[in-house]
Amino acid sequence: MNASVSDYAGEADLRAMQELTSRLWSPAARWHVGDLAWGRFQHTGREPEWPTRLWRAGERVVAWGWIELPDQLNLAVDPAYDGHGLADEVLDWFAATAPGVRRTVTVLDSETHLLAALARHGYQDAGDGLPFVVNMSHDLRDLAEPEPSPGYRLRTVDAADVPGRVATHRAAFHPSRVTEESYRNVRGAWPYRADLDWIAEAPDGEVAAYCLIWLDPARRAAEIEPVGTVPAHRHRGLARAVCLAALHAARNAGATRAVVGPRGDDDYPVPARLYRGLGFHDITRSRLLHS
Ligand SMILES: CC(C)(COP(=O)(O)OP(=O)(O)OC[C@H]1O[C@@H](n2cnc3c(N)ncnc32)[C@H](O)[C@@H]1OP(=O)(O)O)[C@@H](O)C(=O)NCCC(=O)NCCS
Repeated sequence: MNASVSDYAGEADLRAMQELTSRLWSPAARWHVGDLAWGRFQHTGREPEWPTRLWRAGERVVAWGWIELPDQLNLAVDPAYDGHGLADEVLDWFAATAPGVRRTVTVLDSETHLLAALARHGYQDAGDGLPFVVNMSHDLRDLAEPEPSPGYRLRTVDAADVPGRVATHRAAFHPSRVTEESYRNVRGAWPYRADLDWIAEAPDGEVAAYCLIWLDPARRAAEIEPVGTVPAHRHRGLARAVCLAALHAARNAGATRAVVGPRGDDDYPVPARLYRGLGFHDITRSRLLHS
């Protein structure tokens, strides 16, 4: 097709990528605007590893590709424009930018237009037995009340909490590349809202658990990303309580639905168990394909 192509040139382009992401959003979509904000800002100094390109029809972004060198591609393609070979253009660019490696792409079962393009380009399903992600959704009309364990306090973060909030993330996701600088960048990214960034504070003042929610106001869709509890405070209902507090805040801010994408395989079952216990149900799952 006659899409104009441009390489990523800063945060205005991230907003343009988020516009397409919001337009394509459904509970079965791979991307939520929060994924892009969190994914692009949770670390610093990665830009040289991330060739990123946008395809536009007129002013409107109709596809984007975000390569994570050496071998991974993230992409979104508007199915309404897919008949013009747009997904093929993104995959050709990936092959030219990451030559000589076994290239990998993760898509959802629901992204049939991308699965068809990947098949045309010779990509194969990496098969069963590998980690995968399950997309889950929750209608927020029916939301349980948060019940924190005795002695813990649920509240939103403020600037003074940044060191503790980052230390908790690093302990939960050890090893982690999130730093105080990168988390401050996350807090500056659209559509971050401090009123949707919740912590469970332990009796000694430590941040024991947290849940960050992103709200896409155009779709009234909230996304949980990420959640963590420090190991010493786990299995006390803190993740459940802090997620429920954040989900209530998201509903008060206008969200009607929430989504989350935990691991779906049996080797890492606790997050999916947490979200199912909150009322989330499975929508679709990811597939890893390689060239
Ligand atoms: C996932 C995580 C946030 C859970 O935190 P937590 O505070 O221990 O969770 P909760 O105590 O609220 O328990 C939530 C559910 O998980 C279950 N659970 C918690 N720890 C468990 C364990 N070690 N084994 C089995 N089940 C467990 C609870 O029984 C509860 O299930 P239920 O609702 O069916 O009763 C925590 O393990 C963590 O930080 N993991 C690393 C980061 C991560 O993977 N985050 C999620 C990314 S999507």
